[in-house]
Amino acid sequence: MNGSEPKLSKQVELMVTDYNQHEKKSFVRKMFSDIAPDYDHLNRIISFNLDFSWRKKSTENLEYSNLVLDLCAGTGDMASALFSHKNFKGKIILCDFSYEMLVLARKKLQNYGEKAQIYLVCGDVEKLPFKAEIFDGMMLGFSLRNLESQADFYSETKRVLQKGGTASFLEIAHPENILFSRVFYLYFYKWVPFISQFFTKRKYAYKYLPDSLKIFPKQKEVVKFIKTFDFEEVTYHNVMGGMAAVYKLVK
Ligand SMILES: C[S@@+](CC[C@H](N)C(=O)[O-])C[C@H]1O[C@@H](n2cnc3c(N)ncnc32)[C@H](O)[C@@H]1O
Repeated sequence: MNGSEPKLSKQVELMVTDYNQHEKKSFVRKMFSDIAPDYDHLNRIISFNLDFSWRKKSTENLEYSNLVLDLCAGTGDMASALFSHKNFKGKIILCDFSYEMLVLARKKLQNYGEKAQIYLVCGDVEKLPFKAEIFDGMMLGFSLRNLESQADFYSETKRVLQKGGTASFLEIAHPENILFSRVFYLYFYKWVPFISQFFTKRKYAYKYLPDSLKIFPKQKEVVKFIKTFDFEEVTYHNVMGGMAAVYKLVK
């Protein structure tokens, strides 16, 4: 942080996690803070500008929610997608442990003017700084792979979600058709790091991206794991043949 950065007007800074004690968390936090200025631009390139429509689709479930928690909010693209639904009149709390990402989110969401009721919380989604059962909606975009403890994350999301509340998580996935998966993996594992090196100086970050998908389980296994947390409903649907998937959880 330096003195010239804009102040977050509605920000609450909560450092309840000592990141130095967590190898993956501190790596991921530093990496996203490093790439924050390039993040949106590269997302548009890598996804051929399709990511916004995927985000919009994945937030349809939350159009009538009153208080939504945006987990791992980054630069605020999930919040933008939710605000773009004409029936959404609620408030969104963005939570991310990268201050640099939240500064960009705040700038972006100002475009929605006064009607956008947003609050920014700099904190760890695996140890959420909120009371139990306060959110009726929850969303996350492209971050499940980055978590250190999936188990802590799902126990925390279940704790802060109201009974009957819905969570909608969008994540890069594994195409279920073998031929299509070959083409997709070739693109994602080989081309994405190659293309990215022309657009960013932080090459290590775009080496991490494919590596993080290689070790992330397939959709059915993700659902099986989430079910162990006793949600009322856990389902998924594929987006673009399984290049991404939306997981819907109801408490
Ligand atoms: C791939 S970006 C996704 C950003 C945004 N959700 C989107 O859809 O573009 C991952 C984000 O998750 C955040 N993140 C990863 N692990 C986190 C954690 N344990 N607590 C809070 N934020 C986390 C990173 O700082 C980063 O901003």
